[in-house]
Amino acid sequence: MDHIYEGAFSRIILKPLTYEYIEQLRQLRNRDDIRCWFINSSLISIEEQENWYKKYLTNSKEYMFVAFEKKYPGVFIGSWGAYNFSDDGLIFETGRRMIAYDKVSERGLGYDIVCCGLDTIFSNTKAEKVYSEVLSNNERSIHSILKVGYKIIKTIKKGKHELVYLEMTKKEFYNNLSVNK
Ligand SMILES: CC(C)(COP(=O)(O)OP(=O)(O)OC[C@H]1O[C@@H](n2cnc3c(N)ncnc32)[C@H](O)[C@@H]1OP(=O)(O)O)[C@@H](O)C(=O)NCCC(=O)NCCS
Repeated sequence: MDHIYEGAFSRIILKPLTYEYIEQLRQLRNRDDIRCWFINSSLISIEEQENWYKKYLTNSKEYMFVAFEKKYPGVFIGSWGAYNFSDDGLIFETGRRMIAYDKVSERGLGYDIVCCGLDTIFSNTKAEKVYSEVLSNNERSIHSILKVGYKIIKTIKKGKHELVYLEMTKKEFYNNLSVNK
């Protein structure tokens, strides 16, 4: 897949994930304080990460981004992903959002990352609606995407996990963005 989209918003730059960042991404994802917030929280090996990346490159319905602060553009600080696009390309899921708190210069960048990612996807694809599933006890993550404009629709069970299902239209996203300015 030719994943060429990149974006900038407020304090953040998002670039397409490339091979040079997959090890930093793996190490961030494997941190105990990060992986505890994912449904699959097992440790990822170097080999698994390489295989996942190879598969990712062939998937036309997945966009994985790496994040940087505008003021430190060389320092990898996290990630965000858009995936599970519907066959007609109108609906997609977001997640895989992580921030390396030891590398950032300020808090609250999670909001900027989501806005940057959504603006990049909505401007470059025909998608009209986004959804996300977040562990119901991940209050920090839920708080920050509610601020973006996602609305809680329902609570769902996946295995032993309880998740909050949130969604938002493209129109709601841009309306909310102009209100928050
Ligand atoms: C989710 C994540 C990306 C959010 O990053 P962030 O926005 O920079 O996080 P912050 O700590 O600055 O908090 C964001 C907001 O949540 C609020 N918050 C923090 N802890 C909270 C809590 N326990 N309950 C409710 N709100 C909380 C903060 O006050 C802040 O709100 P504000 O912007 O209105 O002041 C980051 O916490 C992270 O990497 N978490 C681990 C991985 C993860 O959970 N990913 C999501 C998987 S779906």
